[in-house]
Amino acid sequence: MPEDHFGERVAERYDESAADMFESAVVDPVVEFLAGLAGQGAALELGIGTGRIAIPLARRGIRVHGIDLSEAMVAKLQAKLGAEQIGVTIGDFATTTVDGRFSVAYLVFNTIMNLTTQDGQVACFKNVAAHLEPGGCFVIEVMVPALQRLPPGETVRALTVSATRLGFDEYDSASQGLISHHYSVVDGNLEVVSMPFRFVWPAELDLMARLAGMRLRERWSSWKREPFTSDSTKHVSVWEKTASGSRG
Ligand SMILES: C[S@@+](CC[C@H](N)C(=O)[O-])C[C@H]1O[C@@H](n2cnc3c(N)ncnc32)[C@H](O)[C@@H]1O
Repeated sequence: MPEDHFGERVAERYDESAADMFESAVVDPVVEFLAGLAGQGAALELGIGTGRIAIPLARRGIRVHGIDLSEAMVAKLQAKLGAEQIGVTIGDFATTTVDGRFSVAYLVFNTIMNLTTQDGQVACFKNVAAHLEPGGCFVIEVMVPALQRLPPGETVRALTVSATRLGFDEYDSASQGLISHHYSVVDGNLEVVSMPFRFVWPAELDLMARLAGMRLRERWSSWKREPFTSDSTKHVSVWEKTASGSRG
């Protein structure tokens, strides 16, 4: 099992520290997009966390099941109104299987990068394909690696600089490794979280999809289907399970 970086301490403050991501201006277009792909079928969220997307999606009438490694994050989800409709399996989303077939599976908010090896990310695509109905879709929201924004020879990029929060991404381009360092002052105390990621290119994800029997159907720069261009800092990509895509 991979290391759980979302233990009690992170889970306790997750919704507060990501408060802007819980605003309806952010959440509503995601739910609209996913509900449209789900149709009459069910949705599988990998890394369901505290239910930021799953709860409003279930409220829209979509059956949602989630997988997550962190019991602490899932406990936060289960304490919320509406969580009773959502099934959750504790495990690694690269390998954990759940009952049922899904019309859509999704992995949002850069969470594919929590798998820190290429093998892990490839396994995740294969695992998703095994859970999708033929024609079902896999949706990923993830940043475009910001290497173009690093001056030559530099490895660290500031994400947040304020009086109470500092955040930096530290890149290792040879290994596609990225460590996000976050320092926050909370009630006068310094909280430090450093989390490892593997950054991944859009074309590399397309190849992972092909290995798993899926093909690219849509790629946008936002949940509102704005064009993906060379200037885009993130993408929302949809791969479709092809007729020949097999289980396992
Ligand atoms: C950034 S949070 C996103 C949570 C939620 N999807 C959201 O959008 O708010 C990432 C979540 O993925 C989970 N996670 C990370 N790696 C995982 C893995 N290999 N298997 C299962 N869950 C994982 C973490 O425990 C955490 O709950």
